[in-house]
Amino acid sequence: MKKLLHIIATPRGDESSTLKVSGAFLDTFKNKHADWVVEELGLTKEELPDLTMKRVDGKYVLLSGKDLYGDLKESWEDIISQIERFMSADAYLISTPMWNFSIPYTLKHYIDVIVQPRYLFRYTAQGPEGLLKNKKMVVISSRGGDYSSAEAKKADFQEPYLRFVFGFCGITDIEFINAEPMNMGEELQKKSIAASQDKAKALATQI
Ligand SMILES: Cc1cc2nc3c(=O)[nH]c(=O)nc-3n(C[C@H](O)[C@H](O)[C@H](O)COP(=O)(O)O)c2cc1C
Repeated sequence: MKKLLHIIATPRGDESSTLKVSGAFLDTFKNKHADWVVEELGLTKEELPDLTMKRVDGKYVLLSGKDLYGDLKESWEDIISQIERFMSADAYLISTPMWNFSIPYTLKHYIDVIVQPRYLFRYTAQGPEGLLKNKKMVVISSRGGDYSSAEAKKADFQEPYLRFVFGFCGITDIEFINAEPMNMGEELQKKSIAASQDKAKALATQI
């Protein structure tokens, strides 16, 4: 069985605009892909390891090319289990609202936990190399405002950041569906959610 890991970065459950679009994606995806399993990772419920001084020390040990040892190794058990869970997926769906022009802190925390040398990237004589190969990612986001114009795009630090950080890890096949604007009137919101759901259903057949 192949695995789609659904990473959820909104705390709003049934009230979430983002999840209304992701729901349409997943309904079609599950219908079309009987050979895939969908695993949910709710970041607002998940107990992610804090990046304490010891765990950060571990990162520098790995960056220096050495192995983790003793209590550093022990302190990394929860990090490694999050990395292994991430790496076990063949494709990813990230459901995230825009918060302060970027991503919610829970998603940033998750990225800080899993993006580790030797696991997701490594440095070579030619520069950094992403270690994840042949993985697809779909990001479904929703935003209160509308960032589709060239001027407004300058304030969108969400899509460029996610493209860059996962591209750095080797995931370059990334599709975005940005539902916007969600908070500029009910009519616009409804219209945008419906249009985004159509895009999501079409995309779900192409994975
Ligand atoms: C803490 C917080 C910060 C937000 N920051 C922005 C922002 O910078 N730009 C924007 O357009 N909308 C912003 N919003 C609005 C959300 O992006 C928008 O309501 C989104 O649809 C929420 O998605 P959800 O219902 O899936 O949680 C913010 C909302 C919250 C709660």
